[in-house]
Amino acid sequence: METTTVRTKVKDLLKKQPGQEVLAKGWVRTKRGNKEVAFIALNDGSTINNIQIVVDKTKVEDSLLSKITTGACIGVCGTLVESLGSGQAVEIQASEIVVYGECDPMRYPLQKKDTSFEYLRTVAHMRMRTNTFGAVLRIRNQMAYAIHEYFHSKGFVYLNTPLITESDCEGAGQMFQVTTLDLNNVPKNKKGAVDYSKDFFAKQTSLTVSGQLEGELGATALGEIYTFGPTFRAENSNTPRHLAEFWMIEPEMAFYDIKDNMDLAEDFIKHLVKYALNNCYDDIKFLNDRYDSELISRLEGVADTEFVRLPYTEGIKILEEAIKNGTQFEYPVSWGVDLQSEHERYLVEKHFNKPVILTDYPKDIKAFYMKQNEDGKTVRAMDVLFPKIGEIIGGSEREASLQKLEARVDELKMSRNNLEWYIDTRRFGSCPHSGFGLGFERLLLFVTGMTNIRDVIPFPRTPKNAEY
Ligand code: 4AD
Ligand code: MG
Repeated sequence: METTTVRTKVKDLLKKQPGQEVLAKGWVRTKRGNKEVAFIALNDGSTINNIQIVVDKTKVEDSLLSKITTGACIGVCGTLVESLGSGQAVEIQASEIVVYGECDPMRYPLQKKDTSFEYLRTVAHMRMRTNTFGAVLRIRNQMAYAIHEYFHSKGFVYLNTPLITESDCEGAGQMFQVTTLDLNNVPKNKKGAVDYSKDFFAKQTSLTVSGQLEGELGATALGEIYTFGPTFRAENSNTPRHLAEFWMIEPEMAFYDIKDNMDLAEDFIKHLVKYALNNCYDDIKFLNDRYDSELISRLEGVADTEFVRLPYTEGIKILEEAIKNGTQFEYPVSWGVDLQSEHERYLVEKHFNKPVILTDYPKDIKAFYMKQNEDGKTVRAMDVLFPKIGEIIGGSEREASLQKLEARVDELKMSRNNLEWYIDTRRFGSCPHSGFGLGFERLLLFVTGMTNIRDVIPFPRTPKNAEY
């Protein structure tokens, strides 16, 4: 292959002026044509759009042409010319073609009859080459960039919190244990319990369920921090909104009260949605036209709307009223219950028809670290609830009083062995502070309109599934 020309990505080729010699490389989406010419649609993952390659069959060996089948990887040198066909401004008039990798049509794994998302999850090497996953993964990439850029522009420090930890931040006990002990021959102590002193870290450790507690140490030193990393939960929930391994963004800010926290969460998420509309429009438009014709209007709606801010107690009243008026829920509603997704979605989609930030939850259904309200019953929690998704953000103002925090830890009979390092933040220069966690894949569900969280992450981990 001629090496005088450097490769140009398809995304950039489509914006170039005709008349230049170019080199494109990528995978064949389709090949069609007649006796004289072949038309190849080539995609290299840089954009949802393909570049059309026009091949004069008299100038290319039949044996080469027959290798150019759907899925094959090729390089094409040629002239960029104005396209006569509709659908694209330019195309490549090929002068030389190289086949890097053939793709046997008889064994090609994507037949028209079964390209369901579920099936695609079993064909890992093809999944990312489909239009849909290409679009989703490009959006995922842009969103990750936008998150870093957002916090960077506000002077937040990106803090890396540990993935292996001894603390169960959320206290829900849904942790994956990390051990090098031989599970077939576990060492026991005199009491007959596992002897963790023999384990790698000489203590019981797990994969983190949240970087928050370590993040609070960062915020109470650096001012404003955020984490953005993998998070692990061994909850056995086989739902379209739960992963066992997901990514979470957790900002934590000194001197923010609950209102500042809500303001930041609302601004942050609107910024991300606007960023997606401005920077991923081709991919979003594809998903909108193919699967969900309300996607763009939903995104625009959220970007322009003021979120509702509602105390939990008011939310319960609305739900009880709805039940009185004939709405049926699977799970019961009364003050004190943890809201189910159906309840959250009723508030967001039926009652208010916009995102809702629900605040001041009963303390018994929330984590130990949340700031206690004067009523003695509720805490300064905030969950951001979104259309189609339910909870997308969970957060709170933190309990800054040493006395109250210790009392709560004792009340919940939590072990203080591996918590003193955290409680120390309240002993030495305690400060009011707040933070929240945004589930990255929940955000992506919203931005892409995909309906199953497994389809917005390259390699999903869920109960009984950790392939690849
Ligand atoms: O509400 P959660 O459990 O809050 C925390 O972990 C706090 N420590 C956050 C903080 O205040 N720094 O989780 C936060 C968000 C949820 O709102 C949801 O978007 C997402 O993380 N999330 C999950 N996403 C996918 N799969 C799961 N199993 C998830 N569990 C939580
Ligand atoms: Mg939560």
